[in-house]
Parts: sequence; C-alpha cells; structure tokens
Amino acid sequence: MVILLVSGFGKGFGKTILFGEHFVVYGLLGIPCALGAVTTAKVERLKNSGYELIDNRPATPDYKETKKGEYSALISRIIEFMQVKEGLRITLGGDLFAASGVGASAACAAALARAINDEFKMGWNDEQINQAAFEGETAGSGTPSGIDNTAAVYGGFLLFKKNLTGGENFIEVLKIKKPVEIVLGNTGKTSLTKEVVGDVKKLKEEKPEEINAIFEEYSKLAEEATNAIKNYDLKRIGELMNKNHGLLQKITVSCKELDELVETSLKAGALGAKLTGTGRGGLMIALTPGKELQEKVAKAIEGKGFEAIITEIGGE
Ligand code: MEV
Repeated sequence: MVILLVSGFGKGFGKTILFGEHFVVYGLLGIPCALGAVTTAKVERLKNSGYELIDNRPATPDYKETKKGEYSALISRIIEFMQVKEGLRITLGGDLFAASGVGASAACAAALARAINDEFKMGWNDEQINQAAFEGETAGSGTPSGIDNTAAVYGGFLLFKKNLTGGENFIEVLKIKKPVEIVLGNTGKTSLTKEVVGDVKKLKEEKPEEINAIFEEYSKLAEEATNAIKNYDLKRIGELMNKNHGLLQKITVSCKELDELVETSLKAGALGAKLTGTGRGGLMIALTPGKELQEKVAKAIEGKGFEAIITEIGGE
C-alpha cells in the first residue's frame, strides 16, 4: 500500500542588498536583488497544537543557535497572522546558505507563508504573502523596512522604498541587460538585525546633524546608483558601492572583518565592494563582472581565511 503524505510547499529567495541597507528603514531608496538560491518550507498538519521545526538548511556554524529566539517568534507570528489553528510540522531546506546578510529569515518567512497558503488552500496572492512574511520579519528586525521580505517573495532586481506613513511601499522591478557576477564574502559572524538597527536609531538621536548629513549624502548616491544600473554602467555602480560602504562605516554598522573583505576584494580587482544586509558580521558583496575576475576575487577572499560564495545578480 502506498501512503501519500500530502503537504504544503513554498519557497523564498535569498537576497543581497546592492545599495541602501539601514537607510531604507528611514524611507530612503534601497536596491535589493534576489540570489539564485532559495529556502524551501514544507508544512504537514499535526494532531497536537503548536509546531515542530526541522531545520535542514545549510548554515554558518552559530547561526541557528544565535537566531533561535528570532525564528520561534517569526514562525509564531506567521501562524497567528495566517490564522492557522492546527498544529504544524515545518521542515526547512533549500540551497540558500543561512547566514547574516542573505535575507535568510525573510526567505524562511516567505517560504513558510507560501507553504501554509498551499497546505490550507487559502488562495493568497503575492501581496498578501508579502504581508505575512513582513509580519514574520518584525520578529527579527523590530521595525523592518520590508526590503528583505519583498525581495524574498518577488525575486528579481528591485527598487524599494518603505512608505513611512503606513501605506503601500514603492516597488519597481528593474531589468538589466545581462546578469553580473558577484562574490559574497562571509565573515562567519552572526549579528542581530534588531540590535544593529536599534543602534543606528540611537546614533541618529544622539548626533542628529552629523547623521542626517550622511543620510542626505546617501539619498543622492541612491539616485545616481539607480541611473548607473539603468545604464548598465558597472564601473560607476562599483564606485558607488565603495562610497555606500564608507557611509555604512560612518553609521557604525561595519566591522573589521567586513572592512578586510572589502579591501581584499578591491585589491584583487573588484569594481566595488561593500557590506550587505545588517552588517557587524554577515556578508560582503563584491562586484566582479566576468568569470575570471570573479574567481580571482573569490580566491583572494579564501586566501584570507574567509568563505567566498560565487553567484550572479540580475538573472531571471
Ligand atoms: C537587513 O537586511 C536590512 C536592514 O536595512 C533592515 C531592514 O531594512 O529592515 C538592516
């Protein structure tokens, strides 16, 4: 006899932020792009209430332990938001390496919301799934901009602006001429988004003039970056990534490992490099068009004892 175990299934894209982490929390433009790698979620109904989690995702060593509390809040919030009354067994998998900086929690939130939608035949559209994923993200970031869950749900290359008055966020899909090779360098350190976002808020309150000037500078940079992306001007994109990293250093969200990764990538010929995501650990992104340059930068990063992940942005 064949027993068919029916279960709901969903996936969420990992992301990298090319421009604008932290600034995006305050309504400035952010430019995220989906990675080829995804997190998958499978949900099965249980007789008992509550949920069981089986987390088979590949991850940075301390990631799952450090983020335990955040993930249990994320899952509970999505279950509540989607009004699931039954118990669930949730199995996470996929090829997205869970580390700070790839939008791992957002990819999980999107995958889980899609799997619940599938299992309970709720018929939610992408916008509703995105709302559920956003709800899950509030567990980790406190006041998330929504950039990570939006990239995780929609995929692709996006322009994103949080609507600070609570209305719909601005989302525009960008098409680029040709995918570009990138290298992600992993510090191996896990940081908590809520803490780092909270520190930026404090800094902004303590030194309003200095920090607001940095925000204004970023605002101009983001406009230029949008044009450079639309014109496929890789050299200019790289220069602006370097400037963006400098501004992120000034708002204290970089760390010595991230700075070393940036320096190593630039020395090896990357067109630009910056931290990506929360910072104070997690990942660095280097723009490395062409397989040859990509390999050279990845080798340089590995030569310094860090892990390098090679992938592309701007694909379908
Ligand atoms: C984290 O990937 C991006 C942050 O800007 C937080 C957010 O936008 O919610 C640091």
